[in-house]
Amino acid sequence: MTFLVHFRLYLFNAFFTKIPFNFLRMFFVRRYITVGKNSFVSMNVKLLNLQLSKSQICIGDNCIINPGVLLDGRIDKIIIGNNVDISRDVYIYTAQHDPHSDNHEVKTGNVIIEDHVWVASRVTILPNVTLGRGCVIACGAIVTKDVKSLAIAGGIPAKQIGDRKSNLSYTINYQPPFYT
Ligand SMILES: CC(C)(COP(=O)(O)OP(=O)(O)OC[C@H]1O[C@@H](n2cnc3c(N)ncnc32)[C@H](O)[C@@H]1OP(=O)(O)O)[C@@H](O)C(=O)NCCC(=O)NCCS
Repeated sequence: MTFLVHFRLYLFNAFFTKIPFNFLRMFFVRRYITVGKNSFVSMNVKLLNLQLSKSQICIGDNCIINPGVLLDGRIDKIIIGNNVDISRDVYIYTAQHDPHSDNHEVKTGNVIIEDHVWVASRVTILPNVTLGRGCVIACGAIVTKDVKSLAIAGGIPAKQIGDRKSNLSYTINYQPPFYT
C-alpha cells in the first residue's frame, strides 16, 4: 500500500502536473485534490499528499494556484476559500518536526486560507495558521501565526505592515494556456 501511495503521488509530481493542456491537467488534478468551479491549478504545482482522500487539500471557486507552489496535505489539511490568489513558489506546510523532541516527532496543523486572500511570491506558510479574509501576505514572508482579515503582513516572521483598502468585490478568472 505504501509503495502504491508513493507511486501515485510520484505520477502527479513527475508527469500530470507537467501536462501543458489545462483541461487535461485539471482532469488529473481533480483526481488528487478538491477544486471548485473556475479555479486554475497551473503547471508545476507540487503535492505532498500521502492519503487517498481528496479532502486533504480543498480549493474553492475562482482561485489561481501558480507554478512552483507546494501544497502539503500529508496529515492535516489545507482549506482554501474562493477568489484566492497564490503566487509563484509559495510553500504551504501542514506538518513539521518538533525541534525539541527526542524522537524527531511530527507536529501538524491545518492551514486555512479565507476568501480573497493574496499570497505573494516566495512566501512560506507554516502549519496551524489561518489567513483571514482578504489579507495579503507580502512576497518573501514566513507566516508563523494567524493573519487577520484585510491586514497586509510581511517579513520573517510575518508581521502586519499595512491595511488592505479593497472592498474585495473582484472575481478571479485567469486560466492562461501553457502557463509554466
Ligand atoms: C504586498 C506588497 C504589494 C506591498 O504592499 P503595499 O501596501 O504597497 O506596501 P508598501 O510598498 O506601501 O510598503 C509598506 C511598508 O511595508 C514594507 N514592505 C513592503 N513590502 C514588503 C515585503 N515584501 N516584506 C517586508 N516588508 C515590506 C515597506 O518597506 C514599507 O515599510 P515602511 O512603512 O517602513 O517604509 C509587496 O510587498 C508585494 O508583496 N508585492 C508582490 C510581488 C509579487 O509577488 N509579485 C508576483 C505576483 S503578481
